[in-house]
Amino acid sequence: MQRLFNKRIVLGVSGGIAAYKSAELVRRLRDAGAEVRVVMTQSAREFITPLTLQALSGHPVHGDLLNPAAEAAMGHIELARWADLILIAPTTAELMARLAQGRGDNLLTTLVLATDAPIAIAPAMNQAMWRDAATQANLQVLLERKVHVFGPAAGEQACGDIGPGRMLEPADIAARAAECFERGLLAGRHVLINAGPTREAIDPVRYISNHSSGKMGFALAEAAAEAGARVTLVAGPVNLPTPPRVERIDVISARDMLAACEMALPADVFIASAAVADYRPIEAADSKLKKDPQSEDGMQLSLVRNPDILATLAARSERPWCVGFAAETHDVLSYARDKLQRKNLDLIIANDVSQPGIGFNSDNNSVTLIDRSLHQQHLPQASKTKLARNIIELIAGQLPARPEGR
Ligand code: C5P
Repeated sequence: MQRLFNKRIVLGVSGGIAAYKSAELVRRLRDAGAEVRVVMTQSAREFITPLTLQALSGHPVHGDLLNPAAEAAMGHIELARWADLILIAPTTAELMARLAQGRGDNLLTTLVLATDAPIAIAPAMNQAMWRDAATQANLQVLLERKVHVFGPAAGEQACGDIGPGRMLEPADIAARAAECFERGLLAGRHVLINAGPTREAIDPVRYISNHSSGKMGFALAEAAAEAGARVTLVAGPVNLPTPPRVERIDVISARDMLAACEMALPADVFIASAAVADYRPIEAADSKLKKDPQSEDGMQLSLVRNPDILATLAARSERPWCVGFAAETHDVLSYARDKLQRKNLDLIIANDVSQPGIGFNSDNNSVTLIDRSLHQQHLPQASKTKLARNIIELIAGQLPARPEGR
């Protein structure tokens, strides 16, 4: 499992002999799915070359606070905001002291001051330096500031001493880094969401569609990504930006949407928020249909049923946990209950689109969730963003434990 999927980690490397292990750490973090940007102190460059860490991280290594070229590419404040975690491995006794003092005299210490992201250090030093009262006092200061401290391990040291001060192994540091994020309610889960309308071609210039804006589905995708999930968003034609860290696949028709959703499996959860066209013209004309100027007669358009994407995915043997939407104008809850059972869903989200100010194109919504045991929960009117967070929380609370091996 990629426990650090999509996580952005600034890896700080300071100048200790353990810096050679940072190369493997970059690989471990990337293998776990993280995006890594490396920041080296001047003395770290004496132990390992920036080129090595650049090649392994796939990005130029940052080093100077006052380098105009680096600041133009990604400035220190931008880098501090970019990070989901600042991990410093190895952290020398000297750097611990600087961090404890709140110094901002190089790029790494400045980033630590400027970021809102959690900070983790993996100390590495001689055992006597680690035991020294000054280092221990600095450690207390850092712990009080909620800095995560990984290690050090005890054992034989590069200098021949035996005792505490060895940097943890890269695999352990990567695992501990993942634990910093495990609070995400959907960490390690894959959530598939479809959103927006579909368009069913009549001819090359005309189509059948509906008023769905896709806003609810996009808000759900954003909330699921915030909760730590890997999110695939299959979007019909909508005019919305892709939420951060969401993988978006654009489609046009219902059949394309079904194919894209099936391609994205396996998923732990499928949230079908798309307003899929129920019917499509039997055949889309190859060229633009022309009206007959001599006749006032109407035109017959023959339609066939589209596949039901949600019912199709819910019928699979290795099915995701399936969530449907029921947008109705009347008898909302009874239609919703009927859909829940007919489509074999785990949860249905009912909303009354006849109410002014909520539903299709609005920024607000109000919904009722109904689960398999027909338990109902009403979420009063709120912004789609807020409602989406609420819905994702409720879904996370109901999800069965992940099967072994996933
Ligand atoms: O049957 P109805 O369209 O009312 O059901 C709504 C739910 O079913 C929504 O979650 C919608 O995304 C899904 N649906 C689907 N494929 C269709 C029609 C609806 O996945 N062809």
